[in-house]
Amino acid sequence: MKKTFLLIAALLLSLTGVSADNRVANLATKSRSVQLTADNIDQVMQAMTLEDKVNLLVGVDEEDFVDAVSGKQRELVAGAAGITYALPHLGIPSTLFCDGPAGVHIDSTRNGTSRKFFATGFPVASCLASTWNTELVEEVGKAIGNETLEYGCDIILGPGLNIHRNPLCGRNFEYYSEDPYITGAIGAAMVKGIQSQGVGACPKHYAVNSQETERFSVDEQVSERALREIYLRGFEKMVREAHPWSIMSAYNRVNGVYAQCNKLLLTDILRDDWGFDGIVMTDWIGKRNDLPVEDEIKAGNELMMPGYPVQKTDMLQAVRDGRLPMADIDRSVRRMLEYIVKTPRFKKYQYSENPDRADHTAITRQAGAEGMVLLKNANTLPLSISGNDTIALFGVNSYDFLSGGVGSGCVNVEKVVDMVSGLKAQGIATTPLLTDIYQKYVQYARVKLMIDKNPLMWFLDQGQPKLDEIEISERCIRHEVEHASAAIITIARQAGEGIDRQIDGEFTLTDLEQTMIQRVSDIFHEADKRVIVIINSGSVIETASWRDKVDAILMSWQPGQEGGNAVADILTGKANPSGRLTMTWPVSVYDHWSTRNFPQDYDMYSYQRLQQRHRPIKGITYTKHEEGIYVGYRYFDTYKKQVAYPFGYGLSYTTFAYDRMKVKATDDKIEVSLVVTNTGKMAGKEVVQVYVHAPEGGMDKPEKELRAFAKTRVLQPGEKETVTMQIAKSDLCSWSEDTHGWELAAGEYTFMACKNVNETLCSQKIKL
Ligand code: BGC
Repeated sequence: MKKTFLLIAALLLSLTGVSADNRVANLATKSRSVQLTADNIDQVMQAMTLEDKVNLLVGVDEEDFVDAVSGKQRELVAGAAGITYALPHLGIPSTLFCDGPAGVHIDSTRNGTSRKFFATGFPVASCLASTWNTELVEEVGKAIGNETLEYGCDIILGPGLNIHRNPLCGRNFEYYSEDPYITGAIGAAMVKGIQSQGVGACPKHYAVNSQETERFSVDEQVSERALREIYLRGFEKMVREAHPWSIMSAYNRVNGVYAQCNKLLLTDILRDDWGFDGIVMTDWIGKRNDLPVEDEIKAGNELMMPGYPVQKTDMLQAVRDGRLPMADIDRSVRRMLEYIVKTPRFKKYQYSENPDRADHTAITRQAGAEGMVLLKNANTLPLSISGNDTIALFGVNSYDFLSGGVGSGCVNVEKVVDMVSGLKAQGIATTPLLTDIYQKYVQYARVKLMIDKNPLMWFLDQGQPKLDEIEISERCIRHEVEHASAAIITIARQAGEGIDRQIDGEFTLTDLEQTMIQRVSDIFHEADKRVIVIINSGSVIETASWRDKVDAILMSWQPGQEGGNAVADILTGKANPSGRLTMTWPVSVYDHWSTRNFPQDYDMYSYQRLQQRHRPIKGITYTKHEEGIYVGYRYFDTYKKQVAYPFGYGLSYTTFAYDRMKVKATDDKIEVSLVVTNTGKMAGKEVVQVYVHAPEGGMDKPEKELRAFAKTRVLQPGEKETVTMQIAKSDLCSWSEDTHGWELAAGEYTFMACKNVNETLCSQKIKL
């Protein structure tokens, strides 16, 4: 458990006088008369001492875990992220949290058994969102919820709903989009799916945690309007539609106040405006020297995670000194009890530790393939391979495919299907010599990495690290081209919490990668053979400098443990690509307005460049969101800036036409419908995106904003489907900083049915 790494906990334990041994002894002497049920929360609260109440509001150490079924202390599910305190004399069990969001993050090994406890690695969030398929995401949510339940956890810490403010954020792979509407829609589907299994979701990190640099303290200075319209709107949609059991407050400050003690965010907006009725827990921070614990409770943050004894001592003292009213403690305790009675652990659910991973593997393959985005296709895909054809696979990650990211968001999977196995399963061989060279290197590099591991970087040591790329000589490529009908090059990127991405070599390609693309393309094109690039990354990379050199580009993301199979499904045409980007791909990262004030770690190589264009940045205390609401396409589209691939973009192997668009307004909503026809030669799904251009109404407005979307079923060539979408009028409002409220400008609205933000197929205007 993460907490074990924080030595300070052990030192502080002795200060409280409530060690695990003492506590067990004390418990035995307490009354056993009231035991918690779903209906007697008032009674239980009356029977609780102040110490009982305070204990419930602070997470506990592993050794304090009391199992609800046996009533005994025992080791928790190894690798789970956190635990709540048990009060057995009141029938209150500990409950358990495990990390998400791409699957259940637990350890695969446990003391005392040789059995392995693997979880299914689902596609990362950016891939799932790119499916634009809420039903499919709900299915993924059900599978994740089921593994949470069957591995003995009560809450999974996800999904992540922060906005992709900038492509350099290290955790974008854990988040859905730069757009709040699709973030909210996909987030709601995920939460519904998870919670349908009787466990809780914990959407995070509320709010404005769109960078990792100095994440524990940075002050995100954001206008009231951008906060409401961009950073909170996705959370709002998800809370209203899916009613999560819990929410995790972010580490950072928002406009000067830590998110975890921000009453505006945690009470006024979350509870009073949106009707949230679950618990709020902190992100994993412990005591902050500059934040009295009473401020957190008063603001509406119920649970301190991972929880340290000193936080209890502080809380007790604050009550005794009159700084923390009992009413605030009671309100938080009541919410905790309301949560606890819903949990599987309270209901003594006998978990199997054996979820149906075969079934979940099938879901991950489908979702992985459906999230992939075909960026370029010059008459290359789907591959027309005859029995004798062989592919030359370049790039280390063809052989070590990345299932997901690193850090708390990783999943310990049994195996990741690489490209060799994925292609082979569909009858496509890879050239033997090259395959052998790379496979041997991968074996060596994995061992080397284990030896070189830096134990202090615990969060980056979790998950699948990226192995270094190797140089492939011209001679080798010339040998390969003789034996292959086409080349595939995999370019991969790894990222994780705690560190933002560098521009050079992380957002852009390294020299080695550029050379590999150049050499392979030159030599294969000389022989009139095609070159396909697979991007195996959770977030955006630079493409403009090299995309003209190759014939096809598939953004596969980190699509989960079935990676190679899902990629092969797309390459062979078994699945028709229907993923669409949920974030803009800029030509250069400097094109994003937010890059001007997005912090980047000091590094010798890029320091001079940063100095010229940005503030150089370690130890920053704030990030000023100068771009306001002009995040992602709202900026590029409004200011007519060129991009590499626009928001909503993605190719298909077939074509679709839209017609008979209708827009009807009722009192509180607008219904948009249209007919989609598959006009091409292959069966496939289409994503219809509805953007709205709104009248200004005295405000500065983006050119257009995504307000609805729909995904068709698989349409056969010639087949039609009528898609109907509802847009609440409230979703068309903008936040006024004058009235501090939502305003619907009167005037003419244009509803556009688009293939992506830059390509409108039909539109209708109505007056509202
Ligand atoms: C991360 C959270 C995670 C928690 C528990 C934190 O460092 O920011 O996303 O859920 O750790 O592992």
